[in-house]
Amino acid sequence: MIEILSERFANLYGHAPSVVARAPGRIEFIGNHTDYNGGTVLGAAINLGVWVAVGPAPAGVLSFATDSQRGIVAVSASDPRKQTGAQRWANYPLGVWTSLRGFGLKQPDGLEYLAASNLPVGAGLSSSAAIELATALAYLALTGENPSRETVVTLGRHAENNFVGVPCGILDQGVSGFGRKNHLVFIDCRGPRFETVPMPAGAHFWVFNTQAKHALVDGLYAARHRECLEAANGLGVALLADVTLAKLEQGRARLTEVNYRRAKHVVEEIDRVARACAALAAGDLAGVGRLLTASHRSSQTQFENSTPELDFLVDALAAAPHVFGARLTGGGFGGAVMALTDAEFSLAQAAQVAAAYGHRFGSRPDVLHCETGDGAEVVRP
Ligand code: GLA
Repeated sequence: MIEILSERFANLYGHAPSVVARAPGRIEFIGNHTDYNGGTVLGAAINLGVWVAVGPAPAGVLSFATDSQRGIVAVSASDPRKQTGAQRWANYPLGVWTSLRGFGLKQPDGLEYLAASNLPVGAGLSSSAAIELATALAYLALTGENPSRETVVTLGRHAENNFVGVPCGILDQGVSGFGRKNHLVFIDCRGPRFETVPMPAGAHFWVFNTQAKHALVDGLYAARHRECLEAANGLGVALLADVTLAKLEQGRARLTEVNYRRAKHVVEEIDRVARACAALAAGDLAGVGRLLTASHRSSQTQFENSTPELDFLVDALAAAPHVFGARLTGGGFGGAVMALTDAEFSLAQAAQVAAAYGHRFGSRPDVLHCETGDGAEVVRP
């Protein structure tokens, strides 16, 4: 990928890039909508991601290109306004560029930029965090700055929240930044504090991307965020992570029925993350799998961010041999399901699930057998 990207960069801009950085996509392992509630979450960086090549340019012009679209998006550094229409993708690198200043970091004053990806977009694998993290590392290498990894991750989230405009938590950027092969990333989102946790040997990840997304997915995500904050407010705490199940039950009368269910999902999900950590440490993949499927059931019935497509896949996978558990991964309202399996789960079995899905819904999901991978890094020079 590095060679191809460098060659395309040279074709586009007439010389080689100065820096190439890479950042992985992620699987949300368990901890659904816990991050912005100050809770805990486990994710895994995968071996697919986004590569970003950059070079300096005369001050004042920021040129952005991506291998998935023709042409260059040229933005004036003195007027870095949000892009619309087909140029919208450039809001990720532009958002990171505008965010640098607030973190006390130098902005490259002129820029040539090219991104390439082998991560399916819209698959729930967070291509957005991957582009943010690869971009941030590339800019920082260009200006010769070296802030902490926590700062890089927070910078990526800042761009997503404040420039792109998605009120996400720290999960996606945190996992892309702190990922490690054969490990999961544990995040205590309140700090935030990041740790890696070994993945027991013999565990395999499969992702089934439905490619079916609710048209209002961004609005629905924001609505869940709002409902959780309303519930916290009703219970007299800043964040739902501060609530025990007992306290939630005591305060139930002060919440709407809907907000009670949202809060119950979050509080129980945080407990499932803790139990998943213990089961992982004990090498109990069957126990981990049961928690994954329980997480999905809670998303389905309490948080209501699942869809019939995702439920179908989870039902089929959870009943299949060699599968420990399955759940929706990411924000929900469409997107992808991940399954944790043993080494015996085969492509033929995955194809069977995909065919049954096709029979029911008319189109087949994309199937990916993912490996874990390392977190974001500068790969050249
Ligand atoms: C999306 C967001 C994350 C997180 C998940 C749900 O992936 O980007 O911050 O909230 O949804 O757990």
